[in-house]
Amino acid sequence: MDYKQQVANALAPALTDLSVEDIMAKIEQPKTSKQGDLAFPTFTLAKTLHKAPQMIAGDIVEKIDQTGFEKVVAMGPYVNFFLKKDAFAADVLQQVLTDGANFGDAKIGGQGQVPIDMSSPNIAKPISMGHLRSTVIGNSLANILSKIDYKPVKINHLGDWGTQFGKLITAYKMWGSEAEVKADPINNLLKYYVRFHKEDVDHPEMDDVARDWFKKLENGDEEAMHLWKWFRSESLKAFQQIYKRLDIDFDSFNGEAFYNDKMAEVVDILESKGLLQESQGAEVVDLSKYDLNPALIKKSDGATLYITRDLAAAIYRYRTYDFVQSLYVVGNEQSNHFKQLKAVLKEMGFDWSDQIHHIPFGLITQGGKKLSTRSGRVILLDKVLDDAVALAHKQIDEKNPDLANKDAVADAVGIGAVVFHDLKNERMNNFDFNLEEVVRFEGETGPYVQYAHARAESILRKAGNPDLAAAGQTLSDPAAWDTLKLLSEFPATVVRASEAYEPSVVAKYAIHLAKAFNKYYGNTKILVEDDELNARLALVKSVSIVLKEALRLLGVKAPDEM
Ligand code: ARG
Repeated sequence: MDYKQQVANALAPALTDLSVEDIMAKIEQPKTSKQGDLAFPTFTLAKTLHKAPQMIAGDIVEKIDQTGFEKVVAMGPYVNFFLKKDAFAADVLQQVLTDGANFGDAKIGGQGQVPIDMSSPNIAKPISMGHLRSTVIGNSLANILSKIDYKPVKINHLGDWGTQFGKLITAYKMWGSEAEVKADPINNLLKYYVRFHKEDVDHPEMDDVARDWFKKLENGDEEAMHLWKWFRSESLKAFQQIYKRLDIDFDSFNGEAFYNDKMAEVVDILESKGLLQESQGAEVVDLSKYDLNPALIKKSDGATLYITRDLAAAIYRYRTYDFVQSLYVVGNEQSNHFKQLKAVLKEMGFDWSDQIHHIPFGLITQGGKKLSTRSGRVILLDKVLDDAVALAHKQIDEKNPDLANKDAVADAVGIGAVVFHDLKNERMNNFDFNLEEVVRFEGETGPYVQYAHARAESILRKAGNPDLAAAGQTLSDPAAWDTLKLLSEFPATVVRASEAYEPSVVAKYAIHLAKAFNKYYGNTKILVEDDELNARLALVKSVSIVLKEALRLLGVKAPDEM
C-alpha cells in the first residue's frame, strides 16, 4: 500500500550501505508521469562509490527485482519506478473501502495525553478573530492528534484574571448599570473598558483606583468577587454560543483565575531555588543566559502576573495529565512570553519544559489594518458567521433552489467556509479577511471541497448506492491515476500535519483531492455499464470518504447534498 516503502524495499538489496529509512528519505516524486511515479536520485552516492551517477543508476536497475512494478528504468542520474497501475488501484480502493472513516488512523501516540491550550479569550471582551484562529487551529490539531492515537485535552485558558478586572470594576462603578450589562453584556462591558482607557490618559488617578480593586479581588473581597463572577458568567454564555455554532467543545474551562490559589507554590519554589531577584521593588527571574528579558513574577504591590499564572498552569497540567506534549495555540506576538515560560520552568528544574510547545500563528488584518479591542477596531465573530451563512444561502438559492434542509446546509457551508479559510493558510502567515472570498464556491475554498464531496455522493445516489466489494476493484483508466495516488497519500499527509502542527497540510490536501476528482469526473463518464463501472464507483466512494474525513479533521462538515 505504501508505495514509497515498496520502492525502498526493492532498492534495499542493491544499496547495502544505506538503511531502508535512508533510502525512503531520498525517494522523490518526478515532475511528470513520463518519468515514472517515483524516482531515486543517485547524485549523493557518486562520491562514496567513485562512479558517475548515470552508471550507478544503470547498475541499480540491473540488480533490482522488478516483479512488483510495471517497469524500472534508469534515466540519467535517476532510477525511475513505474507502478503497476491496476494492482495499485485495487490496493488503494480496498484499503479505503475497508477502513472507511478510519482510513489513515495510525498507532503513533500510544494514548499519550496532550493538553492543548486553545481559544482562551478574555472575559468582558468579544472573541476576536485571533481567538477564532486559536480555536479552529487547536480543534483541528486535537482531531489530527487523536486520529493518530494521542489523547488531546482541549483547555480553554480563559483570560478571567488580572489587573484589567480592576479597571473593569472601576469603570463599571463609574458609568455602568446592571440593566445595560444584562441587555448586552459583552458590548457594554467592552464599552466601559474602552472608555476607561480613553479617560485615564487625563485622569491617571483612575489607575490607582483600578489597582486597588484588583488587590481586593485577589484578596477575595465580597463586592469585587461578586462583580467579577457576574462578568465572567455573562461573558462565558456569549462565548458558548459561538463555540456551539462552530461545533467545538472543551474538556476544561480552567482559566487564569483557577490558578489564583496555586501561585504561592510557584513563588515558593522560585524562592527556595534562589531564582527570585528584586528589581525596583518587583520580583523577577533573570533569564540573561537564555538571551531573554527577566520574567516579572510579582509586581511591587504584590500582584501576580500573566506569566505567574501560566507557570502554575503548566505545573498543574503536568501533574494532572502527565502529558507527553503540552501545546499552546497562541498568536505569534506572544512568542517571547512562551520562551520565558519554558526558560523559567527549566530553571526550576522541570525537564518536562522541553515537552511544551508554543504553536504560534499570524495576524488577521482587515483592509490591511491591524485589529485591536482597545481602539474598538474589531471584527465581531458572530457577525462574520451570520454574514457567511447568509452568503452561502444566496449561493445555494442560485445553484440548487430545491435543496432540502437548506438552512442546515447553509450553516454547514457558511461556517465551514470561515473555518476552512482560516486553516488553509499556513498558520504563521498573516492574512487579510474578506468574506466574499471566503464563501466562494470556486477556487481554493471550503465550499469547493464540500461541493466535490456532495458531487461524489450525488453520483453514488444516481447509481442507487450500490454495495461495493472492497477487494478486486481494478481500475486501469489512466484518467483516474492522479486521484488514486492522492487517496494513497492521505495517511502520510495526516502524519505530516501532526509533525508540523499544521492543519493547512490537511486543508491543502483536501483541495488537491477535490481538484483531481473534479478533473476526473469532468473527463470521464462514470455511470456507463462496462467492466469497470464498479471500480469507478469504488473510486467515487473512496473520494467521498476521504474528503469527508479530511474536512472532519479540520472541523468542517460535509453535507451530502448542496
Ligand atoms: N487570554 C490570552 C489572550 O487573549 C491568551 C491566553 C493563552 N494561553 C495561555 N496559557 N497563556 O491574549
